[in-house]
Amino acid sequence: MAKRNNDFFNQKKPWSVIKDKLLGYYLKPYFQKILLTKHPVTYVDCFAGAGKFNDGTDGSPLIALKVISDVLAQSKIANTEIKSCFIEAHHYDQLNKNLECYPNTQVVSGKFEKNIGKILRDNLHRNIFLYIDPYGVKELDFEFIGSLAKGSFYSMELLLNFNSVGFLRVAFKAFGIDFTNENDLLEEYDNSLPEPSACTITANKRR
Ligand SMILES: C[S@@+](CC[C@H](N)C(=O)[O-])C[C@H]1O[C@@H](n2cnc3c(N)ncnc32)[C@H](O)[C@@H]1O
Repeated sequence: MAKRNNDFFNQKKPWSVIKDKLLGYYLKPYFQKILLTKHPVTYVDCFAGAGKFNDGTDGSPLIALKVISDVLAQSKIANTEIKSCFIEAHHYDQLNKNLECYPNTQVVSGKFEKNIGKILRDNLHRNIFLYIDPYGVKELDFEFIGSLAKGSFYSMELLLNFNSVGFLRVAFKAFGIDFTNENDLLEEYDNSLPEPSACTITANKRR
């Protein structure tokens, strides 16, 4: 049975800590490089959440906005512009309040599937970054997501985050494959082989 997500924003779970670190590490070099194109950028967080968790930690919108203001403050390129847009179906009021002091930011209340088309049409000829971070895999319609890149954009980049075990569960079901022991999917190779006692370096001599 699907887990209820009412308490998702009470406290950041360990996997969300890792996920959010990856987002921050990914975005910084992305914005630094993409500004070199000298074309404006639109960042869209398609499943934005509340902006902040109740334990005080930043959610993906604030992580991105802080990276954007750092990158813009350090950039030496003239006339840089980064707009951000945050789409959220349920926690709109909280999100809007958490982002109110950030300039160049649009908060959209509603579903990603219903709103992304217009947002992209309003942002043609720009560099587009889409962050897609739904709760589950059912929201991931790859045909629809793939179709988004068809507009006239200077570039489009997508960072997709999903639960791989959930994805495999749905994939197995779609192919009618029985998989009863879910733990098999989580099994990892043992990486704890003893280290060699001496280090060997082999140098290839030039002829
Ligand atoms: C996994 S949470 C996002 C967490 C957020 N990225 C973060 O790290 O802080 C998924 C969010 O998407 C919202 N949501 C669910 N279905 C949606 C849809 N179809 N369109 C837009 N938002 C949706 C949920 O209300 C929830 O806040």
